[in-house]
Amino acid sequence: MGFYKMENSTDKNQIVKLPLNIKGFYSWLYDSDKMSEFFDKQYVNDILTLGACRQLSYELAREIPMNANVIQFGITFGNQIDLIARKITSYGKYLVIDNNAKQIKRCENKFYGLYPQLKFEKADASRFKSDTKFDRVICYNLLHELPPLSKIKVVDSALNLVGPKGKVIFIDYHNPSKWNPLRYFIRMFNRLFQPFAEKLWERGIDMYATKSSDFSWRKNTYWGGMYQKTVATRKSKPF
Ligand SMILES: C[S@@+](CC[C@H](N)C(=O)[O-])C[C@H]1O[C@@H](n2cnc3c(N)ncnc32)[C@H](O)[C@@H]1O
Repeated sequence: MGFYKMENSTDKNQIVKLPLNIKGFYSWLYDSDKMSEFFDKQYVNDILTLGACRQLSYELAREIPMNANVIQFGITFGNQIDLIARKITSYGKYLVIDNNAKQIKRCENKFYGLYPQLKFEKADASRFKSDTKFDRVICYNLLHELPPLSKIKVVDSALNLVGPKGKVIFIDYHNPSKWNPLRYFIRMFNRLFQPFAEKLWERGIDMYATKSSDFSWRKNTYWGGMYQKTVATRKSKPF
């Protein structure tokens, strides 16, 4: 057993025991150049997700206007970042933050000289602060990797970064329909390797926001309910 100490907690009773496979699984993936290089290939993502990752990236791109000022929480594999960088064009701004130095370095090399609008920065999404507000915040396949308290912090941090009428777009797992043949396979996979993912089956992403009523929420699901796009749009002030 490994141990996970809840952030900002001094109370020993709040130390949560975590199985080692949680830490092991993600560091095995994100701290390894070889594994990252392999999973970064678009055809590998297409095979593993049966093409769903492509559809989800297009669904994300529909929410991003040209020339927008955009921040993304967490680096992704495949061509999701390319797609959004092209949609934004060189008149916009695209900042991708990640708390893993290896992933930042990998992407700085991968995208070197390709898109002037694209920048990478090593930072923790749960406490990222900025003087300027963004038109869009992207949170693509990140929440399912985080324990509940971090989910709340990351959702709140994303919502804090958008200005009036700005949007936060969450792409992530969702509770598959009862008739979805993959439902039980995914449940087994999650229980073995992604124990925080099932929390997204139990409640909507809006339930993780402390100021959810400041936003209007819209959700679309895909692939028999397996994935979701949840969009939070900041409401204009009543006066
Ligand atoms: C965005 S998810 C992408 C998941 C999946 N591999 C994909 O491509 O769809 C994984 C990335 O998020 C980063 N990450 C995890 N927690 C983070 C945090 N609190 N702040 C910033 N980046 C984080 C990881 O270092 C990793 O590079």
